[in-house]
Amino acid sequence: MKSTPVSILNDELLASLDSSVADVADAKTLHPDLYVSPDVLAAEKELLFMREWLAVGRAERIPNPGDWFTVDIMEEPIIVVRDKAGVVRSMSAVCQHRAMQVCEGEGNSSTFKCPYHHWIYGQDGRLLGSPAMEKTKDFNKADFGLPPLAVEEWQGFIFVNFNLDAEPLAPTLERYTPYLENFDLADAVCPGTFTLENLPWNWKVMFENFNDGYHANRLHQFVQDFCPSDMSGFPVPWDDDSNVVFRTAGYTHIDGGFNATHRVIMDVFPKLTEEERMRSTFALIPPVLCLGTAPDQCFFFLIRPTGPETIDVEIGYIFHPSALEDPLFEQKLTLSDAGVQVFVEQDQDATTKVQKGLRSRYAPRGRYSWQEESHVQFNRWLAKRYRSAAS
Ligand code: FES
Ligand SMILES: [Fe+2]
Repeated sequence: MKSTPVSILNDELLASLDSSVADVADAKTLHPDLYVSPDVLAAEKELLFMREWLAVGRAERIPNPGDWFTVDIMEEPIIVVRDKAGVVRSMSAVCQHRAMQVCEGEGNSSTFKCPYHHWIYGQDGRLLGSPAMEKTKDFNKADFGLPPLAVEEWQGFIFVNFNLDAEPLAPTLERYTPYLENFDLADAVCPGTFTLENLPWNWKVMFENFNDGYHANRLHQFVQDFCPSDMSGFPVPWDDDSNVVFRTAGYTHIDGGFNATHRVIMDVFPKLTEEERMRSTFALIPPVLCLGTAPDQCFFFLIRPTGPETIDVEIGYIFHPSALEDPLFEQKLTLSDAGVQVFVEQDQDATTKVQKGLRSRYAPRGRYSWQEESHVQFNRWLAKRYRSAAS
């Protein structure tokens, strides 16, 4: 695999991290260069995206043997496939002949035939067929399989990892897992996703906005008054080995909903306790997944940088299976979507302008409110990985 120099993370930039990982009362926001520089993104590709677990979607997207889809992460085209034994596998989509992508989109097949010269690969990436290569000297099919990625499933999400030696993901998410237990997410239903392309802000601006309780009933005044900033909670202390940053967001009444009625629209997940029906949770599993919960739905963003200042965001909602049996499910989904849209428009306006501000010569090293504890935790997750550039 090619490596990119990470020299952009020089002593000065690394030293700037010290004040971002302090206690929230003392900490400063990250150095603005980290949000705008192409070189920083190139460094992040090597230090984060090629090493960490990357969410690619829900396992239910490929329920049957042979089901597959492709996704590009940091310009790496990837295949995710359920093999004939039912095991989810992942591999590079880059043909090991002359680098075309062997497939694109989604489908169901027992093999992958590269359209260019018809090399054929198995569901495990092994090269099975390569026409007219019999005169080619020292050509051994075993040497030309599609490079594999590691795969792990957690709560119904598929994660892949370019680092085949990566430590398992699930143990590093245990600070948050109890908050998901009663949703039974592995058995819940995501009716589909949609993707917003080339949104004009850095991927970390997106992560921070998702996990920012400080703006809750400020930017979203009125529509989020039932879930106010001062009911933000950070119940589990940070642990440097953790891969999840999360917060709770309390409601002023039970079964709140992010729409103009301030109430749930879908069936509430039936196992939730009264306490769990009085809050949302918002979690980051960087560098791709943002996951949130509400009493009647979970929602996720898959963030994929397309440049230092642009991202694609694939968005999905997850419901209890009974919600989809409701004859009015589609109508309720429309209502629910319309509610969320208000938040999305306000957030998009803010994150677009934040990115513009970060390019300014007056971009700040700002200070945090106690309601922004999660940003400091995210900084710690990032700083640990940025600093690995120096070692
Ligand atoms: S590039 Fe795929 S078969 Fe030639
Ligand atoms: Fe928001």
